Amino acid sequence: MSAHDLTHDLPTCSWGQEPCCRTPNAMNEWIDYYDSTHTIYVSSLHRDLHFEAIARDIIRYITSPDAVVLDYACGEALSAAKVADACAKLYLAEPAPRVRGRLNARFAPNTKIRVRSLDDLKKMDENSVDLVVMNGVAQYMTPAELDSAFEVIHRLLKPAGRFVLGDILPPGVGMIRDVLALLRFAATDGFLRDALIGLISTALSDYRQLRKRIGLQRCSQDEMIAKLGAAGFSAMRAPRNIGHNPWRMTFVAHH
Ligand SMILES: C[S@@+](CC[C@H](N)C(=O)[O-])C[C@H]1O[C@@H](n2cnc3c(N)ncnc32)[C@H](O)[C@@H]1O
Repeated sequence: MSAHDLTHDLPTCSWGQEPCCRTPNAMNEWIDYYDSTHTIYVSSLHRDLHFEAIARDIIRYITSPDAVVLDYACGEALSAAKVADACAKLYLAEPAPRVRGRLNARFAPNTKIRVRSLDDLKKMDENSVDLVVMNGVAQYMTPAELDSAFEVIHRLLKPAGRFVLGDILPPGVGMIRDVLALLRFAATDGFLRDALIGLISTALSDYRQLRKRIGLQRCSQDEMIAKLGAAGFSAMRAPRNIGHNPWRMTFVAHH
């Protein structure tokens, strides 16, 4: 959980309803935001611990050292080398071009890691990936974007592969629980002071403005299982969410 998810949302945005405020440009706005010098993480310690936690959780889903893994919209993926150690090949796909440039520079020496754009994924071989993880991404997508991502992932996933969709916001979970999740994470991991300062700066940030204007997508457990079903996946909710926000949901899907 990052400070970016702490502030108030427009109430009616949901994949289950007609989107109230999402336009095709919304995709670019969020990607542009993530490509900018943003203040999503309250400190470098928070950022590092976030990516360590995500890597640990991804590794739990890797069932063989021969696995081919795809992290869809991976962000900075600072702990990706640990994920790569646990599998045969790791594809880091990221739409934000500057982030992708940093990923390329950071992981160039690692022969197990390949960096891709989301468009590149359409050119990859069918049935070539054992595990796809998309964490903390779906809430930024329009319904059409999410459907087309599901289509790409379905095509790439091997018949016995798994698709892990994490950090889905349910309709009833609002700001208070997001704040609690960050404070709990911060208190346990020693960045509480930074988190408190971060909460104030997030309230004044570009992220706050963007989130207020565009909103984040939300979905109930049943709606997401149905949406994944419509894309050709059989899915169930995992017992715990990826990362540190226990009020959000992770789904595990397969063909
Ligand atoms: C909060 S970060 C999550 C990064 C990483 N997966 C993690 O768990 O830390 C959100 C990611 O979603 C990507 N993103 C934002 N809007 C998107 C969209 N409409 N389509 C695809 N990716 C998007 C951003 O570029 C960024 O990498």
